[in-house]
Amino acid sequence: MTLRFLSWDYNNPLKLKRIYWAYRYLTKGVAQCQASKSATENSSIGIGHNDAQPKDVQMKSVEVYRWKPGENPQMQTYKIDLRHCGPMVLDILIKIKNEVDQTLTFRRSCREGICGSCAMNINGLNTLACTCKIDKNLSQPLRIYPLPHMYVVRDLVPDLSQFYEQYRSIRPWLQRKNNKTEITGSAQYLQHPADREVLDGLYECILCCCCQASCPSYWWNSDRYLGPAILMQAYRWVIDSRDEATEERLNQLRDPYKIYRCHTIMNCTNTCPKGLNPAKAIVKLKQLLAGYSKKPKPKFNPSKLEDDVNLK
Ligand code: SF4
Ligand code: SF4
Ligand code: FES
Repeated sequence: MTLRFLSWDYNNPLKLKRIYWAYRYLTKGVAQCQASKSATENSSIGIGHNDAQPKDVQMKSVEVYRWKPGENPQMQTYKIDLRHCGPMVLDILIKIKNEVDQTLTFRRSCREGICGSCAMNINGLNTLACTCKIDKNLSQPLRIYPLPHMYVVRDLVPDLSQFYEQYRSIRPWLQRKNNKTEITGSAQYLQHPADREVLDGLYECILCCCCQASCPSYWWNSDRYLGPAILMQAYRWVIDSRDEATEERLNQLRDPYKIYRCHTIMNCTNTCPKGLNPAKAIVKLKQLLAGYSKKPKPKFNPSKLEDDVNLK
């Protein structure tokens, strides 16, 4: 048991380990050493051996835009080991905030591409941090900015007040004419499946603002041009078979700026993280405004509710 350990090799951690335990066996009781040895071997730290070999480390450089009122903006660099981080950009931001720098500020909520609150500019593309994978190429830094051409509240948080005000301006709710006999909430407005299908590709918008912040026309005229996200929602309500304020909605858009600043550059459609097509919705809205197309008549008459509809 002992002579084998006399040929010492200090560079071999296994041999050093054996030597250590031989010494312990000689100097202490066997039972005491066995208990102590199994406890040590079950832990992550071995004798003379460090598990975190440099070759395993996957340090990624993360450059983040930082700004708070009263200070100049700057890029701050963090080094994060990807072995101990989730796969998405939001995971790396949460890791930085939890473990490195609690002052880093960003919005997030659902963590699954539903709420739209984690929209930001990642490596030059407006997208959702929670659905954007971290590039594993360690030679390239991960660069994160707030949505471009928007006022910033702090760090990665854009000011969306104007965006929501514009959304409110298009009245994004069902409008009916007969408010006297139709009691809101008393029955559902029927809609034929074919009419409902028209809303596919429109209702899925999560109002993340990625398209809005990628539109050059919106950059230059954000106070007067409504932008792709708002116009797509305007079309969603114009074309809804149950809505009866179609003419009012269209008249509200007859303005040199509100819709006609769109020049079909398609940045909006290219960037949408939900795969929607706001540019197409704007084209359809323009066709309705020009009288080139008309809103189809509803296949069910929603105002009569269940009375004369054969649901079979
Ligand atoms: S298609 Fe229209 S809304 Fe979309 S990015 Fe271009 S100008 Fe903006
Ligand atoms: S259309 Fe797409 S990018 Fe634009 S707000 Fe909706 S989900 Fe976001
Ligand atoms: S956290 Fe909700 S969309 Fe990213």
